[in-house]
Amino acid sequence: MEKPTPLKSLEISDRGMIARRRFLNFLAASPLVATPMVASTIASILASMPDRSLAQSYDVLRSSARTLGPDGIITAAGDALNVFEFEPAAKKAVLAQEAPAHWGYLESGVDGDVTRDANNAAYARYNIRAKRLIDARKVDTSVKIFGETWRSPIFLCPVSSLGAFDAEAGVTAARAAGKRGHQMILSTVDNASIADVSKAHGSPAWFQLYPTDNWAVTQALVSRAEAAGCPAIVLTVDRQGGRNTETLFRMRRQDQRDCSGCHTPGFANEVSRKANFAGIDVSKVTNLYGTGMTWSFVDRLRGIVKGKLLLKGIVTGADAKEALRHGVDGLLVSNHGGRAEESGQATIGVLAEIVDAVGGRIPVLIDGGVRRGTDVLKALAVGAAAVGIGRPYVWGLASFGEPGVDRVLQILDDEFITIMRQTGALNVGQITRDTVTRV
Ligand SMILES: Cc1cc2nc3c(=O)[nH]c(=O)nc-3n(C[C@H](O)[C@H](O)[C@H](O)COP(=O)(O)O)c2cc1C
Repeated sequence: MEKPTPLKSLEISDRGMIARRRFLNFLAASPLVATPMVASTIASILASMPDRSLAQSYDVLRSSARTLGPDGIITAAGDALNVFEFEPAAKKAVLAQEAPAHWGYLESGVDGDVTRDANNAAYARYNIRAKRLIDARKVDTSVKIFGETWRSPIFLCPVSSLGAFDAEAGVTAARAAGKRGHQMILSTVDNASIADVSKAHGSPAWFQLYPTDNWAVTQALVSRAEAAGCPAIVLTVDRQGGRNTETLFRMRRQDQRDCSGCHTPGFANEVSRKANFAGIDVSKVTNLYGTGMTWSFVDRLRGIVKGKLLLKGIVTGADAKEALRHGVDGLLVSNHGGRAEESGQATIGVLAEIVDAVGGRIPVLIDGGVRRGTDVLKALAVGAAAVGIGRPYVWGLASFGEPGVDRVLQILDDEFITIMRQTGALNVGQITRDTVTRV
């Protein structure tokens, strides 16, 4: 048994709580009660202790209570130690539905998936500078974007067709995000509508726009989102023409199902299960992405969007400056999770260029490859106003539904708070370029 830690060296001054924790630790270590069931109950009590106990929550009991399947894969959302553990769990769940093509769809980048992987790997090129002797027991993770307060800077990215991973699609993800105070951007082509998602979220979600190549449809989509209270339209600009989603195509070959029931050719058929298009005449649409869009399209859209207009997919300082000239309110630095072009360029690597180009006039958000609370901190340090996750929350959704998304967000929040404390940042504003060094 570990020796009790002297009170004065603990970061937590709540003596009552420490006494309880010590007692629980003592019980857990006692040979009289240390059966797996008792240990697991104690672990869940320890895990449920409030944020004040975070500094101590990385308790040895946490892992000893885990039940892994014979394949070493987690069997409950609460057992995950990091977001990566949801990936094999999600794969298992999707393959159990005999849907390898859906798995390929989620995982795929383009060509050799080099850009997809570069997004995450590039975070290792930034090191974090710890700061000592700062009382960081109370940490405020909230951010303010366009006057909205988000409890956490981590938001859910638009991911189309969530219905392939959960019966309620975006509604389930929104419920989890809303309860934890995270914002969410709903994809135009999710199965759930912006109205239902906003209701489940508890406050209006943002709407990602694929405008199509028919202006009347663009207008109808924007009005539908605004009628649901949506304060921000996020136009995705990184999908010109086709793409080579090789990983998807490879997995598709393994899929034995007849997919024509859902994937019937023709735009109207394609969007017939996409709630945001319900009742909209799409007979003149030939393309979802509005291929051929130019800055004059941004001007035209600016003219009808009543709330905030953001561009998603900007990856150069020059385009960021152009966006300013066209009255855009915010940018989301993104390469579509490595699903647009195989540039090899990680989003974190171009963030500083874009932040410097806009010079604080509009908020710059980022996504791509974010898998740890330390990644979140690094992106904020370089100048992001908020940080999005795509695949990780879908892994949570596909494997365990709402509890899966909840746990993914909880893990990232916990990791983020932990690293904030170690850098002496008491609020997000105190995370600055000095917080990181580039290797
Ligand atoms: C399966 C899948 C579907 C996506 N669908 C959309 C979409 O409908 N609209 C959009 O703007 N971005 C879409 N994205 C890109 C995400 O919004 C986001 O940029 C990306 O997933 C972030 O990278 P990450 O997955 O590494 O976290 C999609 C990504 C994935 C993985």
